[in-house]
Amino acid sequence: MANIQKPVIVVHGGAGIWRLDRSQAGLDGVKKAAETGFEILKKSGNAVDAVIEAVAAMEDDGTFNAGYGSSLNIEKCVEMEASIMDGKTLQAGATGLLTDVKNPVRLARIIMEKTDHVFIVGKGAEKLAKIFGLERRNPLTERRLEYYEEQKKLLKDGKFELRKLRDLVENYPELFKLETVGAVALDKNGNVAAATSTGGFPLKFPGRIGDSPIIGCGTYADNHSGACSATGVGEIAMRLVLAKTACNLMEIGKTAQEAVEIGIELVNKRISNNYNHMGLISVDIYGNVGAAHNSPNLCWAYITPEKREPVASLSAKIVK
Ligand code: GLY
Repeated sequence: MANIQKPVIVVHGGAGIWRLDRSQAGLDGVKKAAETGFEILKKSGNAVDAVIEAVAAMEDDGTFNAGYGSSLNIEKCVEMEASIMDGKTLQAGATGLLTDVKNPVRLARIIMEKTDHVFIVGKGAEKLAKIFGLERRNPLTERRLEYYEEQKKLLKDGKFELRKLRDLVENYPELFKLETVGAVALDKNGNVAAATSTGGFPLKFPGRIGDSPIIGCGTYADNHSGACSATGVGEIAMRLVLAKTACNLMEIGKTAQEAVEIGIELVNKRISNNYNHMGLISVDIYGNVGAAHNSPNLCWAYITPEKREPVASLSAKIVK
């Protein structure tokens, strides 16, 4: 384990396309999330607390596709998911198919700390949220409802990004009745953690689980390498086990930035025949920050002790 005394936090509010009408809200939201997490690290708090609070801030914001403001599935319902991983112990917690838990990432933490399991979804997860008294909130926003209608029109016009969903809807019209948030941190004791939360891909099939709650795909943290959180098309991160792949690269000596760039190169090389927008953020155990994407935008921010103020942007290294 590295014994580095340099706390760092990196957060993302999602890859994809950030339209002008909400890009300022996105930048403000990731800055606030980075500050929330960094405040904890500055006061000698640990990396797990920092990523939980950073992600919870974005889940509460309403600008992002996580918690309040989550995307709607094809049946116009919300099914949220989230995960957390502690790089010190390799413990992890993940949850999915949540309809009204205010902060899915807090439930992921409860699963990690209070159960013997890693991944609990649906009714069981809601039951756990009730036992532990987690707050509830209707995640539906006006903006998401409007977005749903826009996406539905694209789908009906045959212009939706997911090809098989287009075909499914064409053949089974009765079916009709991207962004994710994440945070990675390094605390002053050299411990890393990662957390990710999402409403999932817009118009996803009910019951579909993406990469965000799958340990190794959307989220991974290990004190032997670093931490990584993914955003974009979940099925791609799942096929390439992207977050763990980036951590493996850091373990063999790549910097946080090199690791995420190689991860995105892998996406471009191996999954090029389909809609493949992805973004990755990372921190390595030496405190280096990484962010890369192949999508037009990645809304993200980071803070290091040298920077003090959050550095936020709508793009990082775009890997072609
Ligand atoms: N990366 C989020 C999702 O595909 O659900």
